[in-house]
Amino acid sequence: MSTSKDHQSNFRAYQSQTTPHPLGLEVSHASGSYIYDLQGKAYLDFIAGVSAVSLGHSHPAVVAAVKQQADKYMHVMVYGEFIQGPALDLCMALARELPDPLQTTYLVNSGTEAMEGAIKLARRVTGRSELIAAKNAYHGNTIGSLSLMDFEARKAPFRPLLPDIRHIEFNNTQALETISTKTAAVILETIQGGAGFILPEADYLKKVRQRCSETGTLLILDEIQPGFGRTGTLFAFEQFSCIPDILVMGKGMASGLPIGAFTASREHMDTLQDPKLGHITTFGGNPVIAAAALATLNVLQKTSLISDTLKKESLFRSLLIHPAISEIRGRGLMLALIMESPVVADYLVLEAEKEGLLLFWLLFEPRAVRISPPLTLSEAEITEGCTLILRLLDRYEKSAVN
Ligand SMILES: Cc1ncc(COP(=O)(O)O)c(C=O)c1O
Repeated sequence: MSTSKDHQSNFRAYQSQTTPHPLGLEVSHASGSYIYDLQGKAYLDFIAGVSAVSLGHSHPAVVAAVKQQADKYMHVMVYGEFIQGPALDLCMALARELPDPLQTTYLVNSGTEAMEGAIKLARRVTGRSELIAAKNAYHGNTIGSLSLMDFEARKAPFRPLLPDIRHIEFNNTQALETISTKTAAVILETIQGGAGFILPEADYLKKVRQRCSETGTLLILDEIQPGFGRTGTLFAFEQFSCIPDILVMGKGMASGLPIGAFTASREHMDTLQDPKLGHITTFGGNPVIAAAALATLNVLQKTSLISDTLKKESLFRSLLIHPAISEIRGRGLMLALIMESPVVADYLVLEAEKEGLLLFWLLFEPRAVRISPPLTLSEAEITEGCTLILRLLDRYEKSAVN
């Protein structure tokens, strides 16, 4: 039998890596708000697989739905040909939750794939090619989504990317003048994630909506991260008086299984049938995963977990007061501690892991420490994690003085 040490070197040798310094925690099992390593050490999870495990690890309702569906049938046909109960029920449940015209959903396998579908849909509906995205936005890593990013160093090696893409400053209303009758879509995260959990200001999204309607441009809102209850409502756009033409979701939908979706009007979605097979996928709408998503939605609808995210945010904010924390950004359980420097952010993430608390970074804000736990995280667990964060920061300050 190979040892954990073998696994560490095999992990680097055989499994493709994304950075030279992965956290490398070797997982034995996970339950609720905790992940356990091979030595039985428990890690309190303030990350939830980066906003994905909405109901905590292996929530009984999700596990039961997966098992039940796996016993009945798994993959039986490519997306859209057969009527498969879980996928249809999920699309109908989303339609009941969403306002007009967001009534028709296309299920895919990941967030970036949902964004690719949304880009294609916007081009197909408008017959235009220009896309406008925000600076410091993240929409995924496949070619189309990557093209939307304005981080040149990460894009350059993969050029040529999609043409006709322009970037505007998030929350700058003057920049909205550049949206024109040439623009197929404006693509924004409702709450910017990688940029540092930045909320839209006052009427910003309402004004974006207005300008898009004036120019016949589709508004695509990426709710892959805030969606599915993380910020006090099922979707964050509900809080900003702005209904998009295309809503993109993923991450927390199935509480830890791979899924994405984009939702639009029936009329718009129908354009993907002309030409025939305008957008296709083998595994999109997979019945086991759709069953997990339905179970997740069911729990969110039947409990106060969504509104509780705001109470939990207040608790985090009241506990995490420390000179090393300059600011706490975000809403609900999508919070970023903005530290006084990137060095403190790195220290906190790495030391917390050693002490059994999982924190993580954000893509474009090096001073940020992400807190995006399962929505089921208890008040006692919040207190436990915050006490450790404060202790580590005290220790950092003491060592800096000495
Ligand atoms: C806002 C946003 N959009 C898109 C994506 C891409 O989703 P996925 O990693 O499932 O492709 C992410 C993932 O972090 C995200 O946070």
